[in-house]
Amino acid sequence: MMHVSLRQLRTFEAVARLRSFSRAAEELHVTQPTVSKQIRLLSDEIGLALLEQIGKKVFLTEAGEHLYATCGDWLETWGRFEQTIADMKGVKKGRLRIASVTTTKYFMPRLLGPFCAQYPGIDIALEVINRDRLLERLARNQDDIYVMGVPPDGMNIECEPFLENSLVVLAPSSHRLTTLGRTVRFAELAQEHFLVRERGSGTRLTMERLFEEHGVRPNIRMELGSNEAIKQAVAGGLGLAILSDSTIGEDHLNHQVCVLDVEGFPIRRSWYLVRSKEKRVSVVAATFLEFLKSHVNLLGHPAKEVQQAV
Ligand code: PGA
Repeated sequence: MMHVSLRQLRTFEAVARLRSFSRAAEELHVTQPTVSKQIRLLSDEIGLALLEQIGKKVFLTEAGEHLYATCGDWLETWGRFEQTIADMKGVKKGRLRIASVTTTKYFMPRLLGPFCAQYPGIDIALEVINRDRLLERLARNQDDIYVMGVPPDGMNIECEPFLENSLVVLAPSSHRLTTLGRTVRFAELAQEHFLVRERGSGTRLTMERLFEEHGVRPNIRMELGSNEAIKQAVAGGLGLAILSDSTIGEDHLNHQVCVLDVEGFPIRRSWYLVRSKEKRVSVVAATFLEFLKSHVNLLGHPAKEVQQAV
């Protein structure tokens, strides 16, 4: 019988998922030597190498692949047990894992302050990651709650809209379309060059669907993985961009960019709270969901459906 600890498995799962000792150490709030030691102890106990490091890259060996596939399920089951115990001991205590897409960085962290102040016993891990990585985490059931603008089809999930999320067209303030004095037609917009988010991002998907509906292909000048980089590139005159209005601060980059008045815009959408139906809702997760719905007014406009429910 092998003597393997939960701590070793948690460490291995994080290294295998993140393909990095240093990022695993960061996520687990331990030092890198601690991570290396846990992995060494685990490999010794199993009797086979689990990971291979070539340069800075971490690869899974065949044994590592088998363990990675198995330990996700174990950790999930154990996490459920821990949560049940926390729920039995008394509510509002425990760990809450949230994963949210890139653009939510403009509002999700702000919501956590008042929540943590009200529930000091709840320990939150918030991962702000791109939508493709979020979908991987959702498929592996790694978090309690997911926040995104375009929930995926075909997954066993429950989605609830909670906050308005409109898409607008950004242009450099000196752009000729800003001086027309009338609404820009979509056909005129489609002539322009665009700066777009990475493939798979909710913003990009919505933009692609819109162009598809109009039967035109967008002229993509550049793909950038960050809303901030896109705004800077718009300010620099590289093209126009379709972005969530959550990304727009008060100052509009010191008036170097502006929101264009375009036919069909803003595209009104919602931010969704997403949960896997395969995961039991812990008391902690339910507390957070309730908190979010009642504090959403602090951030802007609740999604229509939520407004009606209140
Ligand atoms: P994104 O999500 O950050 O994945 O583009 C934004 C959205 O769906 O509005």
